[in-house]
Amino acid sequence: MFMPVPVYSFSGAVRQEGFRMASLGKKALILTGKNSARQSGALQDVLTVLHENAVETCLFEDITENPTVDSVAAAAAFGRREQADFVIGIGGGSPMDAAKAAAYLMASPERQPSDLYTAGEDNHLPLALIPTTCGTGSEVTAVSVLTRPEKQTKKSISHKIFADLAFIDGAYLSSAPLSVLRHTALDAFTHCVESYLNTQADDFSRMYAREGLRLWQENRSVLETAEADAGCFQQMMNASAMAGMAIAQTGTGIPHALSYALTYHLHIPHGKAVGYFTVGFLQEAGERSCRGVLQQAGFSSLQEFREWYRALYGIPEVPKNLLESAVESLLANPAKLRTAPFPTNRTVLRMIAENLLNET
Ligand SMILES: [Fe+2]
Repeated sequence: MFMPVPVYSFSGAVRQEGFRMASLGKKALILTGKNSARQSGALQDVLTVLHENAVETCLFEDITENPTVDSVAAAAAFGRREQADFVIGIGGGSPMDAAKAAAYLMASPERQPSDLYTAGEDNHLPLALIPTTCGTGSEVTAVSVLTRPEKQTKKSISHKIFADLAFIDGAYLSSAPLSVLRHTALDAFTHCVESYLNTQADDFSRMYAREGLRLWQENRSVLETAEADAGCFQQMMNASAMAGMAIAQTGTGIPHALSYALTYHLHIPHGKAVGYFTVGFLQEAGERSCRGVLQQAGFSSLQEFREWYRALYGIPEVPKNLLESAVESLLANPAKLRTAPFPTNRTVLRMIAENLLNET
């Protein structure tokens, strides 16, 4: 078990504990997307606390959803020009993953974007992460998933980048649109499921996955109504962080691996794309495993989960040939196949991939 990130998780965490970022450097490169960092108030909290502590800042707000290697390279180039000596990522998974990759590139003037996918030293500039959604868990994982247009998919960089500080404030989630809340919370749920049923799981990772599912289950009604108190938003973000701590140990599994093609080619949001394969994955995991994990999330059966997914997210139309190519890509990834708690082959993977095909 290795979870090296100091986490400050409570309402007002940045305002109360953000002074700790001043120990990371003299000038911060702050990476955000277009909306959530400002709308949530997180960016203002960060700027206030840094300026109170005499830390300079420079702001790069052009991180798009599913950021490309090129957009990370642009952010790193900006940070180098500004002579920033540490990095802060604020937002959903995209700005946080981009911040990890930028912190890696900026650690050495020789590093090129191609080095992101080349094995080597993992050293990086100091890094603080502040989530505004409840899905990725990136604030506590070492993973940075970027879009690689030349490979027509998304893939994690080759380097493990844990943050030096993470601040989790549920108040930032309360301003998120309901669609963002739904898609990211489903991502957190799938992280718990794929970690709990992962061949790499141990007692510690299962503890995080179980507790993540418990918090998720207790607060999942917010996904239907968007009405909740502050404690609910904080707990949903904690569920996401615990799911992240679980996958930081085990990695994700088959549904995530299959999902990237749907996001790349059909622009289906990450959580919804992963959820598309979760029904088939749970079915293949067998009655006992499936029932055990679903009950922790408050579902009495696979059928109930399937209906819940259909009602909240709709079943996306996915061409069969895209599913087949996702299966073929996965068959070429034996390390990922070994994470499944059941034997895998082309037939099994097609059963998982095509489980919802006829339900549109
Ligand atoms: Fe995910």
